[in-house]
Amino acid sequence: MKARLHLWIRLILLAAVMALLFVVDTATNYEVAAAVFYALVVLTAAPFLNRRVLIRLSALCVALTVLSFVLTAKGNLSTGLANMGISVVAILMATWLILKMDAARQAAQDAHAKLVRIARIKSLEGLTTSIAHEINQPLAAIVTSGTACGHWLAHDPPNLDRARQALGRIVQDAGRASAIVARVRSLTRGDPPSTTVFSFNEAVQEVIGVSSGEIARHGIALVLELAPDLPPVHADRVQIQQVIGNLLLNAIEAILSGPAQSRVIHMASEVVGGMVQLSIRDSGPGIPAGVRDHLFEAFWTTKEDGMGIGLSISRTLVEANGGQIEAEAVKTGGAIFRFTVPPVQQENSR
Ligand SMILES: Nc1ncnc2c1ncn2[C@@H]1O[C@H](COP(=O)(O)OP(=O)(O)OP(=O)(O)O)[C@@H](O)[C@H]1O
Ligand SMILES: [Mg+2]
Repeated sequence: MKARLHLWIRLILLAAVMALLFVVDTATNYEVAAAVFYALVVLTAAPFLNRRVLIRLSALCVALTVLSFVLTAKGNLSTGLANMGISVVAILMATWLILKMDAARQAAQDAHAKLVRIARIKSLEGLTTSIAHEINQPLAAIVTSGTACGHWLAHDPPNLDRARQALGRIVQDAGRASAIVARVRSLTRGDPPSTTVFSFNEAVQEVIGVSSGEIARHGIALVLELAPDLPPVHADRVQIQQVIGNLLLNAIEAILSGPAQSRVIHMASEVVGGMVQLSIRDSGPGIPAGVRDHLFEAFWTTKEDGMGIGLSISRTLVEANGGQIEAEAVKTGGAIFRFTVPPVQQENSR
C-alpha cells in the first residue's frame, strides 16, 4: 500500500517536471535547449519503471521535444533544429544505456541462478555418492545375513533359532543403514551431529561384529587392545561408527592388496591428551611418501574400484564431532590411522 503511494507520488512529480520542461522549452526561444533535461527524466524514472513503460516514456519525451520545437515561435530556426536534434539524441542515448544495463543485470541474475542450481545439483551428487558409499557396509552385511538365513531355513530340519538370529541381524543392519542415510543428509544440510553419551569400546565392538565375517573369511587376525577404563564419550554414535567402519574396511583392503604372509589388524583405544583415541594399524603395504597429504582428499584413490571418499567423509565426521584424524606409515610396514573423540567430562566442563 505504502509502496503504491510512493510510486504515485513519483509519477506525479515526474509528470510535473515534464510539464515544466515542456512549458519552458516552448515559451523560451530556440537557443534554450531545455528539452535536453528530458534525458535526466528518463534516467531518474528508470529504477521504478519496467522496460515497456520506460520505452513509452522515452517516446513521449521525444514527442514533447518535437512538439515544443513546432510550437516555439522565437529565435534562430537552425539553432533550434540543432538543439532539438541534440535533445532527441540525448533522450534516446539515455534510454538505450538504461535498457543495455538492464539486460546486463538480467543476464547476471540468470547466470547467478544457474550457478546456484549447478551448486545444488553438485551437492546432491556429493550426497548421493556419500550415501552410496556409507550404506555399502550394512547392505553387504544384510546380504550375508540373508544368505545365512536362507541356509538355516533350508536345513533339514530347519534351524529356526539360527535363522531368527540372522533375521535379527538383518533388521539391525537395515536400521543402521537408514540411520546412516539420515546422518549423511543432515551433514550435507550443515546440521550439527546428534550427540549422545555412549561407551566408545561398545561402539567399536559393534562395528567389529559387522565386519568380523569379512575379517575371518580372509584369514586376518584381529588384535584388540581396548582400554577397560575409558571415560564415556560425547559424540554422534552412528557417525563415529561410520568412521570406524571406513578405517576397518581400508585396513582389510590394504592387507588384501599385498602379499598374504602377514595379515594382522591391531585396534587400540586409549586416552591421549584428554581425548579418547582409537588407532587402527594394519600389516598392509603402508603409505608411500608423498601420498599422506592426499589421503583425506575427496575422490583421491589408488584402488581400481574405489570412490576415494571414505577418508574424506571420515575426516568430516570426526571434525564435526570435535576430534581429529591422522594417518602415519609404520616403519616396520603397514599403516596406522588414529582419530579422537571428546570424552564426556571435557564436554561438560566447557
Ligand atoms: N590402511 C591403508 N593402507 C594404505 N593405504 C591406505 C589405507 N587406507 C587408505 N589408504 C589410501 O588412501 C586412499 C583413499 O582412501 P579412501 O578410503 O578415502 O578411498 P578408497 O578406499 O580408495 O575408496 P572408497 O571411497 O571406496 O573408500 C586409498 O585409495 C589408499 O590408497
Ligand atoms: Mg575406503
